[in-house]
Amino acid sequence: MEVIIAKDYETLSRQAATIIAAQVIGQPDSVLGLATGSTPVGTYKHLVALYREGIIDFSRVKTFNLDEYYGVAPDNPCSYRWFMEENLFKHINILPENTYIPNGLAQDTAAECREYEEKIHRAGGIDLQLLGIGGNGHIGFNEPGNSFQPATHLVDLDQQTIEANSRFFASPDQVPRQALSMGIKSIMAARRIILLANGKAKARAVYEMIRGPITPELPASVLQLHPQAAVIIDQEAAALL
Ligand code: F6R
Repeated sequence: MEVIIAKDYETLSRQAATIIAAQVIGQPDSVLGLATGSTPVGTYKHLVALYREGIIDFSRVKTFNLDEYYGVAPDNPCSYRWFMEENLFKHINILPENTYIPNGLAQDTAAECREYEEKIHRAGGIDLQLLGIGGNGHIGFNEPGNSFQPATHLVDLDQQTIEANSRFFASPDQVPRQALSMGIKSIMAARRIILLANGKAKARAVYEMIRGPITPELPASVLQLHPQAAVIIDQEAAALL
């Protein structure tokens, strides 16, 4: 696992955007795995700027997002579909039909998860997966537990995740208790992974991910086994290394 310590969030975001841009320039029909949350917002801003400067063309790119809240409609401003539209998709020339996010309103969640995996497979697999990390070490919404969940699945969110994500909702009781999330196998199948983390709230999870044992109790630790995983962190997130 390559560890890159950036001096601050701005530098981290620029580095991540540069890696994604290089991927898309080198392979214009790339399949990108994308994350939501606070961490990648700066990266998406840089990608939009690179698009506006004419440096990247997203017209042949496909994207698959890691997760979506269960029971939340795409037009709800708290949905991850909404987040992606606002922070990236509506500012670039990606085709709407090439942007995939699990359907949070699916009645048959098992079928939705299975079909999501099939769509990734039909697209040729993920070339570059962007990840954040939860304070509890989750990636996607793969919460700490007894085993690594392999494929896309319905997840019960951890109390710590509900509390951390309540900042995006009017009150903590409005945070959905479940989500559809790509599994550990879905993430590990990506040909290349970059995980971003900033701020001191992530320092413990970052330390455990890089230096700790590989365990489903700290899901991100599995990335130690990925042959092409890079972690880009700011100095606060690197504080315990
Ligand atoms: C988001 C996701 C999560 C976040 C993580 C960190 O799609 O899958 O794993 O990356 O919860 O969130 P932030 O960046 O808000 O600290």
